Amino acid sequence: MALSVRSAFDLALRALELPSGSEVLLTALTVPDMARIVEMHGLVPVPVDIDEDGEIRIASLNGAITSKSRMIVVAHLFGHRSALDDLLGIARRHNLLVVEDLAQGFHRVGECGHPESDLAMFSFGPIKTASALGGAVVRVKSAALCRTMSELLGTDPIQSSTAFARRLLRFTLLKTVSGERTAWLFRRCVERLGYDFDTLANSVTRGFTGSNLAAQLRRQPSTPLLRLLRRRWRTYDFARIARRTEMGRRFGARIGRSHDPSHSFWVYPLVVDAPSALRDRLRDAGFDATHLARMAVVPAADASRVPAGARRVLERMVVLPWYPDMPDDAIDAMARIVGTIEPNPA
Ligand SMILES: Cc1ncc(COP(=O)(O)O)c(C=O)c1O
Repeated sequence: MALSVRSAFDLALRALELPSGSEVLLTALTVPDMARIVEMHGLVPVPVDIDEDGEIRIASLNGAITSKSRMIVVAHLFGHRSALDDLLGIARRHNLLVVEDLAQGFHRVGECGHPESDLAMFSFGPIKTASALGGAVVRVKSAALCRTMSELLGTDPIQSSTAFARRLLRFTLLKTVSGERTAWLFRRCVERLGYDFDTLANSVTRGFTGSNLAAQLRRQPSTPLLRLLRRRWRTYDFARIARRTEMGRRFGARIGRSHDPSHSFWVYPLVVDAPSALRDRLRDAGFDATHLARMAVVPAADASRVPAGARRVLERMVVLPWYPDMPDDAIDAMARIVGTIEPNPA
């Protein structure tokens, strides 16, 4: 158990002590802190490009590996499970550690990721499935690495109960202003004041602020957080995931797009040529579509390594409002709007 996926990733790098200057390959689209954590350890983040489903492009992976590569971090994006068999074969040939970032991919209690990956990390932060407003679970294959990580974690200060209570309060307030009508009013007020609503909402939900990232990451989860997490696992209505999946398949069928059967549709992102027009049209019809403001493209050391696919996904993505209690009518109405903008989105 860790405070967050970012804390767990930092902990693994602390335990591994990779030689300075080693390269860590990362799915090119992820939360910016993942690349910052790599840099914090004197290592070099290297982006590996993705397609529009968030799946790693094997050609990009092969092109990114050098004699300095030591690890690949695969982010399973949007609820889609990336196929790992080919990637694991390549990683084995090059002696790379394989870390699965399943922050967006929790499906059920007790799941462990791919049996051959070295680490698998699940997040229970805000907006995640079965959220406890924090916490992460990590499966570590090597017993020795697991022991070193536990020992190091044991030396970190414990998150204070007051800090966790403050966090609960902040998110309770946020939830209050995000009820359907209130959210609409609040968005209009924020935009009138000249701010971008999505950026503001993301800065409130992000968790770790800009400075002194290491000190913020290196905390053991508090007892109230762990208790809340246990309670969430016991009481979470897993039928919500089944409904989300059904919604994703229905929406896909309406717009002529097929999906991998393992997709659990944590969100439904669309990559389109005119994202602003689509967002505006959805909002005019009362659907609060957003963009992926919390994610970023992993910076490349030189122009030959810039991940064009990830850039396209980030710049042209529209994220649909996606709640398991949405009726089928709403799913169909959104699909009709998408059809008016772009008959066959990728
Ligand atoms: C792909 C991905 N990786 C890592 C994280 C960070 O998770 P945590 O907030 O538990 O550190 C997130 C959070 O949104 C994420 O989406």
